[in-house]
Amino acid sequence: MSETILVTGGAGYIGSHTTLALLEAGYEVVVLDNLCNSSPESLQRVARICGKQAEFIQGDIRDRVLLDELFASKNISAVLHFAGLKAVGESVAKPLSYYENNVAGSVTLCQAMAHAGVYRLVFSSSATVYGEPTQMPIREDFPTGIPTNPYGRSKLMVEELLQDLARSEPRWSIALLRYFNPVGAHTSGLIGEDPNGIPNNLLPYISQVAIGKLKQLSVFGNDYATVDGTGVRDYIHVQDLADGHLKALQTIAGDSGVKIWNLGTGQGYSVLQMVQAFEKASGQPVPYQLVPRRPGDIAECWADPAKAAAELGWKATRGLEEMMSDTWRWQSANPQGYAH
Ligand code: NAD
Ligand code: UD1
Repeated sequence: MSETILVTGGAGYIGSHTTLALLEAGYEVVVLDNLCNSSPESLQRVARICGKQAEFIQGDIRDRVLLDELFASKNISAVLHFAGLKAVGESVAKPLSYYENNVAGSVTLCQAMAHAGVYRLVFSSSATVYGEPTQMPIREDFPTGIPTNPYGRSKLMVEELLQDLARSEPRWSIALLRYFNPVGAHTSGLIGEDPNGIPNNLLPYISQVAIGKLKQLSVFGNDYATVDGTGVRDYIHVQDLADGHLKALQTIAGDSGVKIWNLGTGQGYSVLQMVQAFEKASGQPVPYQLVPRRPGDIAECWADPAKAAAELGWKATRGLEEMMSDTWRWQSANPQGYAH
């Protein structure tokens, strides 16, 4: 019999791509999502792509009664935990929402898991927990830094509380996956990133400029000590990221304690290199202006992916061109995202 995996936040950007990968690999999937930043249409599209359906429960990870019912009625063997809020600027304006959803929500989820005897958890962390590293590429054994905003602090807090939890009870087997910069969309063009309002992140912004929804990109700073003065990041295709989750889920089965893996490509690109690559893939111009640095940004950040390669047998396989053409296919086929 196949395993049943609970995916919190499974209607969202990374969660929907991972739900698809799980279904394609033969898992049964239960998605729990309150739809605060997503549409149930994403899961309909997932079903269209693979011909299999995840079970969808609209609900909140902070709802202990709901979680207890869910674990009691389904034979869940592990949890992939994506649910949370992720907008850095909003986290500065509404810190309590971030601590409540991301930190308190994770506490409630873990309490319900322990109550149900489910101890395998894969958590969506972020390279933001490294703060401002002095050396590149970033390895998992680098000390965590001081995140510059409540969103980043909420991720670090959850990492630390999960470490404490695993120390308190050896049955816990936990993977902390530190994502670098997820981009791209499923090759079908049916699912992708559908940000609310004006995007904060680079690639959604670029693609909305290319489609004519936004006038021009603001490039935040061209005086960094990088290849062309603009910020450098490790962009990773969301389908590679989804595959990394499956590997982590399988690798920690029957294990004990916390394992940490970077999910990145090991290759950095500057903002201007991204603009150029997107123009090439889409055939659309992306006008931009140079503006001052964005507070809290670091100059450059890329992963050493060697630990994930050695221990998970996982490596990102999709390059920049694929990230760009898949983003454009999704954006041009769905100019309004999931809201037809
Ligand atoms: P997303 O907003 O598309 O997905 C998150 C999903 O969680 C949404 O569908 C939302 O409706 C749901 N959700 C939020 N709060 C909830 C709650 N209390 N109960 C139930 N559902 C809830 O974001 P994403 O980009 O897919 O990110 C997924 C995870 O990965 C997040 O935890 C995010 O912090 C983390 N992460 C994302 C990035 C990135 O660049 N996208 C980078 C590093 C880490
Ligand atoms: C940001 C968050 C980080 C979060 C990640 C994924 C900050 C400080 N960091 O990372 O905590 O985990 O998103 O959600 O917000 N850029 C522009 N113009 C734009 C947008 C971005 O020039 O309109 C530049 C940035 O300065 C940066 C690069 O593009 O150099 C990537 O930015 P972004 O996509 O926002 O990701 P990060 O800043 O790496």
